[in-house]
Amino acid sequence: MDALSQRRLVEAARDGAPVRGLTHGYYKYPARFSPVFAKAAISAFTKPGDLVLDPHVGGGTTLVEAIASGREAVGVDISSLAEFITNVKCTVFSEAELETLERWGSRVATSVDIHKPSTPLSDYEQLGYYKHLNHRSRWRMRKAIEQSLAHAIKLGTPRLESFGRCVVLRSAQWALDGRSKRATIEDFRRTLTETAEDMVQGARDLRASVRLHGRQQAITVLRRSAIGIDEEQTLTDMRAPRLVVTSPPYPGVHVLYHRWQVDGRKEAPLPFMIANKLDGAGLSYYTMGDRKYPGLKTYFDNIKGSMSSVAALADEQTIIVQMVAFSSPDWQLPRYLEAMEEAGLTEFRLPILKGEADGRLWRSVPGRRWYSAQRGTTPGSQEVVLFHRKAVTRPSAASLAASDRVAR
Ligand SMILES: C[S@@+](CC[C@H](N)C(=O)[O-])C[C@H]1O[C@@H](n2cnc3c(N)ncnc32)[C@H](O)[C@@H]1O
Repeated sequence: MDALSQRRLVEAARDGAPVRGLTHGYYKYPARFSPVFAKAAISAFTKPGDLVLDPHVGGGTTLVEAIASGREAVGVDISSLAEFITNVKCTVFSEAELETLERWGSRVATSVDIHKPSTPLSDYEQLGYYKHLNHRSRWRMRKAIEQSLAHAIKLGTPRLESFGRCVVLRSAQWALDGRSKRATIEDFRRTLTETAEDMVQGARDLRASVRLHGRQQAITVLRRSAIGIDEEQTLTDMRAPRLVVTSPPYPGVHVLYHRWQVDGRKEAPLPFMIANKLDGAGLSYYTMGDRKYPGLKTYFDNIKGSMSSVAALADEQTIIVQMVAFSSPDWQLPRYLEAMEEAGLTEFRLPILKGEADGRLWRSVPGRRWYSAQRGTTPGSQEVVLFHRKAVTRPSAASLAASDRVAR
């Protein structure tokens, strides 16, 4: 990579601007990385038509940037909510579909009428997905969500309905998640309209970017663990990815990927209901293990497993770029690097960073609000961007001697 591309990548990794553009605003996925960073990595290491893989795809940042720059992409995530969001964000709607969505968006606020009945989602209710929304003080918001969801379902096709559900998801996240002051129904109605407008504009921008690169490249989203993806036929049938860009769960930092925090810190599974998905399991399922194990054993076993599968899918040209944060970098970074080596990956550093502390690409995130399940928020965090390649397996002395004999 030339010095200019390196400098661009470093600047992009340290970019602190708010997330914006294309379909990135469809949902505030916890601990998402910046689209500027994903885009810079994609343009530094790939060409149009190349395959990009994100094995912990979360809110789909990598896939949106890949499709917008004419790359083929695969995303994998253990969470059905991540699968839903990534699919909606990567849908390239036709002009006719966009017009339908525009009309739908201009009417969505009128679907919310507190004086009219709504239809409860009884199956979800029985499974406990209304938790913390069922409280007496919340009946208006519950009704507003049910009514706007019914309006989304009326869109009639799976693609359009998912878009409509995502409008409700983003608006309800705004109204409920991590708020100290309650949103009124009037606020919610206004937010539905504005969100639908913004999202249609995002979808138009994505369509324009994709068309700029000619033919639309394929996008695949798999809901499953990254551990074992080297045995997944959809992936083994493809060529090796040219780039893996990802941000796995962070060691020792428990981000609440699968819940909203309503009325203070009460955890609600509501986003799965709005997305028409089911939740897999508890917190440690989404964070690669519980923090209680000494040395974060479960975490490091899992990350080694997922990156071993990545290494098995890679070839000698694949570049693996990861953005990782640590609760205690002093011991967790060396342990993380050890896990990468055990997974069959070899680290390399950008020559341009030679003069910096350890020669790695660090970025500090002041005042980051982790959705920490345990002890509130941390004041800030340090994140590092790591670069790896598949380790070259050196032939053993015996196999060298054997090939020497064959050659002679
Ligand atoms: C830091 S987030 C990724 C955020 C993403 N870069 C974005 O911009 O939205 C980490 C993701 O890893 C997922 N995850 C956790 N364990 C996993 C596993 N074993 N396999 C695949 N994904 C996993 C979580 O569900 C979460 O969505």
